[in-house]
Amino acid sequence: MELLETIKEDLKQSLSEKRYIHSIGVMEMSEELAKIYNVDIETAKIAGLLHDIAKEMPKEEILKYVEENNIIITEVESINTGILHGKIGADIAKKKYNVNEQIQKAIKYHTTTNPNMDTLAKIVYVADKIELNRKSDYFDIELERKLAKENLDKALLVILDNTTKYLIDNNRLLVEESIETRNKLLILNKWY
Ligand SMILES: [Fe+2]
Ligand SMILES: [Fe+2]
Repeated sequence: MELLETIKEDLKQSLSEKRYIHSIGVMEMSEELAKIYNVDIETAKIAGLLHDIAKEMPKEEILKYVEENNIIITEVESINTGILHGKIGADIAKKKYNVNEQIQKAIKYHTTTNPNMDTLAKIVYVADKIELNRKSDYFDIELERKLAKENLDKALLVILDNTTKYLIDNNRLLVEESIETRNKLLILNKWY
């Protein structure tokens, strides 16, 4: 069976229906953006489909997984273990499906962002937030969807800013990488 089909079958079994539908949505949006930004379509679909493979892992299992697989975690991640579904998902994708390093990084960075994100990683991060099944009372998703097709960096910045504001409003911890990513985007695009 083709890899994408195999992964779909596996996720259908392992994820909740809601998360599975979201994963398919991210796969489809990643495909759409990959066409616009000249990224390999198959690669984008696999990364989008797999991005939340570890999202539904219970907290105890998350902590056990990082311990057993020598995954280094930060203090913020030890408090807010949900963030770790990026790092763990990348590790599972590598071990289970032997996906390449580019896909692993896209999965890893989709929770925190990272200043070294490549176009694929940006696509998966953005697609996760704007896929067609997603609804939000807090974010203007329609605007983000429009922007994503016009300027990927701009969409990334707007989504990152909105997410950061949301985290601050809700008294949640921020991760350093997201601040570094934001600064890098502003500096490279001269948006400061
Ligand atoms: Fe996620
Ligand atoms: Fe997601």
